[in-house]
Amino acid sequence: MTAVNLATGRIRPRDREAVIQSLRAGVVPRIGQQHIQVGRADEVAALLGDINRIADGGSAVRLVIGEYGAGKSFFLNLVRSIALERKLVTVHADLSPHRRLYATGGQARGLYAELMRNLSTRAKPEGGAMPSVVERFIAAGLDEARSRRVEPETVIRERLAELRELVGGYDFAEVIAAYWQAHDTGREQLRSDVVRWLRAEFSTRTDSRKALGVRTIIDDRSFYDHLKLLARFLRLAGFSGLLVCLDEMVNLYKMSHTRARNSNYEQVLRILNDCLQGSATGLGFVFGGTPDMLLDTRRGLYSYPALQSRLAENSFKRPGLVDLSGPVMRLANLSPEDMYVLLAKLRHVFAGGDPDAYLVPDEALTAFMTHCAARVGDAYFRTPRTTIKEFVDLLSVLDQNPGVEWSDLIDRVEIEAETNPDLLPPSSGAGPPQPDREAAPHDDDLVHFRL
Ligand SMILES: Nc1ncnc2c1ncn2[C@@H]1O[C@H](COP(=O)(O)OP(=O)(O)O)[C@@H](O)[C@H]1O
Ligand SMILES: [Mg+2]
Repeated sequence: MTAVNLATGRIRPRDREAVIQSLRAGVVPRIGQQHIQVGRADEVAALLGDINRIADGGSAVRLVIGEYGAGKSFFLNLVRSIALERKLVTVHADLSPHRRLYATGGQARGLYAELMRNLSTRAKPEGGAMPSVVERFIAAGLDEARSRRVEPETVIRERLAELRELVGGYDFAEVIAAYWQAHDTGREQLRSDVVRWLRAEFSTRTDSRKALGVRTIIDDRSFYDHLKLLARFLRLAGFSGLLVCLDEMVNLYKMSHTRARNSNYEQVLRILNDCLQGSATGLGFVFGGTPDMLLDTRRGLYSYPALQSRLAENSFKRPGLVDLSGPVMRLANLSPEDMYVLLAKLRHVFAGGDPDAYLVPDEALTAFMTHCAARVGDAYFRTPRTTIKEFVDLLSVLDQNPGVEWSDLIDRVEIEAETNPDLLPPSSGAGPPQPDREAAPHDDDLVHFRL
């Protein structure tokens, strides 16, 4: 394998820590992904096009489809950080039995609330940005009021006027106006009630009316309408738009009640139609899911005829070829070459971007891969989470124990094949939790290294 050229220049300690800690915990990094990203140049370019379209006041939607371990969640996070750079606001959540696109028992409100907790801006990439976003809207209104020499309230109401025409927009505008009053009169309780309302944390209309004088709340039925409203509001506040990232779509596929599942698919269809036809403004969606979730004609998205015809055009007509023209984007598994580059990048990040501080030479990267292939077979790069984690652990041990030889450690890495937790029979649906087949063997892996 050839040497990998990596950009020199230091890596911020904050990024370094975030990347190392996430990978050791077996989750994808929230920040600093760009330092370890491999491949996906075409896919990133396509999403960049989507992001630009959203920022121009248009809309976009993609379904990122890949096998377990292909890198869907990593890719979604990467897209999210690009969107933040482009002044979009992002929200993200994993679907689960408690978080759905459509529900009657609070699960769609639950999803909305989770999205709002994760609301991020460039200045607050790790979520919790709702109050600062509303503040920014108010500040923009105050600026305009000053320059036009009119009352701030007048300007703020004018700016909110366009929201009033949208479904649910009247009350949304009232809530934002209440924030202005809270701001103006220093009423902290009112201010925090507004933020709670926007985050869908009111569960009854009565509470909402008492706190804010508004008779509606964000509930299961208004999930999507409120995302559209939020996108419009964000543009009024000076952001470019809203990107919604929904991962683990397999949870819809796993739902055992056909009617409930279909109602969720109907929401997907509604979003797809809106965003493909451009009738949403400054709003985009990226869904992450497995091939089964899409293709299974019994319970996947393809089981819903209108979705199948919408999505089938481009999806798998030409296996092996990339087609980025339609909403379905197939993520191929990482290749062994990608894995090599990834290990080189990990070594680079670990060294804080300084090649003189590399803990292992190139031979170690190849030796590590050979070792994993011997233990696990080729699956080691198709389900890379464990491989990556073990490699980062190995670097940590070397880092903390100068004088120890990498070659003595590699043979002791006890890597095992990963099990895809989604391979439960779909009929188990949201039933009782299954024993976690993944957790046990890897928890104590540092033990193998202990010297
Ligand atoms: N393009 C990539 N560049 C670098 N690392 C990646 C890339 N894609 C995936 N990974 C890493 O591979 C592992 C599996 O990716 P993940 O996104 O969790 O897969 P999925 O969500 O498809 O199951 C994670 O550790 C992730 O950090
Ligand atoms: Mg994932």
